[in-house]
Amino acid sequence: MRIVLTGAAGFIGSHTLVVLQELGHEVIAIDDFSNSEPHIPGRIFQITGKEAEWMELDIAQPGLLKNALRNRLPIDGIIHFAAFKAVEESVHNPLKYYRNNLYGLVEVLDCMRELNIPKLVFSSSCTVYGNPDELPVTEQAPFRPAVSPYGETKQMGERILMDTLKAHPELQACILRYFNPIGAHPSGLIGELCRGVPSNLIPYLTQTAIGKRERLRIFGNDYSTPDGTCIRDFIHVCDLADAHVRALNYLDSPKENPGIFNVGTGKGVSVQEAVDTFNSIWGKSLPVEYVSRRAGDVEQIWSDTQKIERDLGWSAKRSLADALADAWRWEQTLAGH
Ligand code: UFG
Repeated sequence: MRIVLTGAAGFIGSHTLVVLQELGHEVIAIDDFSNSEPHIPGRIFQITGKEAEWMELDIAQPGLLKNALRNRLPIDGIIHFAAFKAVEESVHNPLKYYRNNLYGLVEVLDCMRELNIPKLVFSSSCTVYGNPDELPVTEQAPFRPAVSPYGETKQMGERILMDTLKAHPELQACILRYFNPIGAHPSGLIGELCRGVPSNLIPYLTQTAIGKRERLRIFGNDYSTPDGTCIRDFIHVCDLADAHVRALNYLDSPKENPGIFNVGTGKGVSVQEAVDTFNSIWGKSLPVEYVSRRAGDVEQIWSDTQKIERDLGWSAKRSLADALADAWRWEQTLAGH
């Protein structure tokens, strides 16, 4: 297949690019490098030994994507990763999020329609479920009011996509609702790049271990969970990358359009358990401080994986310990060790 990746130099995009190249697909890799680094394409080449066609482009700018792809047809599909994802930043700078996340999607869909690109895989998030009534959460669970503009953009993105598919049934799409992506490529060459102070648990944890942060603050140990800390479904980014290829294949003969899938391990892990697992890999004890709850955090969520197993033939292969070991290797790469 010839596939376009938007946000190809990002955390999930870069790992998916590796998988697509390893399977022999041709990739047009697009990124504006606003939240990545120019050395990422070279790192990906080091892993796969294959060149992607890279384009530096802000896809949210009207018409730019279409102009870039017009003379590269035929294209089989687009995996659309390009979006911002810092929850707190989105509260302070909502327009940045609405512009990038929503204009970007509209441009992608418009491009598909006009250039006859039939398949789309769209990055959504379990954030659409909010605090679900039932666990594990299935794809049928209702949307809950979003707590941040970031969350709004994922819910609105899904709605924009659904309306577009109704009007243009020749287009086919999968919506992947990611749980908590963590880890890094086992080579230590690519992983998540954090600008400033990380807001997500695992980058903060590995930065604490390397000595960049004094201690990890655990936000709340008074939740109604067995150890009082929040529960999440942490999914290795390489497993998540594999799911995108399965989703593209599914779109050859989809059972539903859009196909909506949770992408998680199906296993809930508490923040405390994640820290304990890291400590056992590291062989030391991370300095931890228990502080009050963080506004907007969901108490517990993990994925029902039956649908993705049945329809995409996908399930997570890597363990939490694998993901944490890979995240730790990546942190050491970043520190130049
Ligand atoms: N946590 C800490 N200390 C930290 C960071 C996080 O205790 O320093 C806790 C949080 O309170 C939460 C858990 O670790 O209980 C996971 O937090 P993350 O910030 O890693 O991830 P979230 O579950 O908050 O995920 C959210 C959205 C996703 C979004 C993601 C990306 O739900 O949709 O942030 O920023 F993709």
